[in-house]
Amino acid sequence: MRDSIRVSVASDSEETSAHVHDDAGNVAADDVTFRFSIDGAEVTDADNAAEETTPRPHGESAPDGERDPRYVAPLSEVPSNSTLRCTAVSGRRTTEIILRRENDADVFAWRNSCPHKPNVPLDPGDGAIIDDDQIVCHAHGARFECGDGFCTDGPCRGDALDEIDVEVRGADVYLSDERFDACNRPR
Ligand code: FES
Repeated sequence: MRDSIRVSVASDSEETSAHVHDDAGNVAADDVTFRFSIDGAEVTDADNAAEETTPRPHGESAPDGERDPRYVAPLSEVPSNSTLRCTAVSGRRTTEIILRRENDADVFAWRNSCPHKPNVPLDPGDGAIIDDDQIVCHAHGARFECGDGFCTDGPCRGDALDEIDVEVRGADVYLSDERFDACNRPR
């Protein structure tokens, strides 16, 4: 028999420690059991716990490893002083959209189109102009609130951008707008 060793197992809601005197033993927390032997650690049920706590690649759905087609981008890539442009897809129809982050974890998205002249994009490719927390159209200076897209000044004053629903899940941003079923990023 060896000197005792202290083994700790932590789950989201519980941490359990035990002194073990034998060459092998079990320590459990919640429904996870860590079984070990001194000559070579052996993990049994803890395999599942490790899988749950290992960060998945961005945009990957749990648990099958498939990439979620509605994945947009890592939250960290959505700027607050500009916009991120991507393409929302519905069947064979595509719509260019822009996203902006507000605070640390709030993201808003709109169709990339100025209500004054819908063929004019607010983000022509290198980011929309953000000034005083408003999106400013580079063509004739219309200004839009960053939340609901309401136009506060310019030739389309009183109109609003077409808002697109997105959601933040963990460290990633996904489309949640029912009008679309996938999102593509320009390369
Ligand atoms: S096209 Fe945007 S303000 Fe005229």
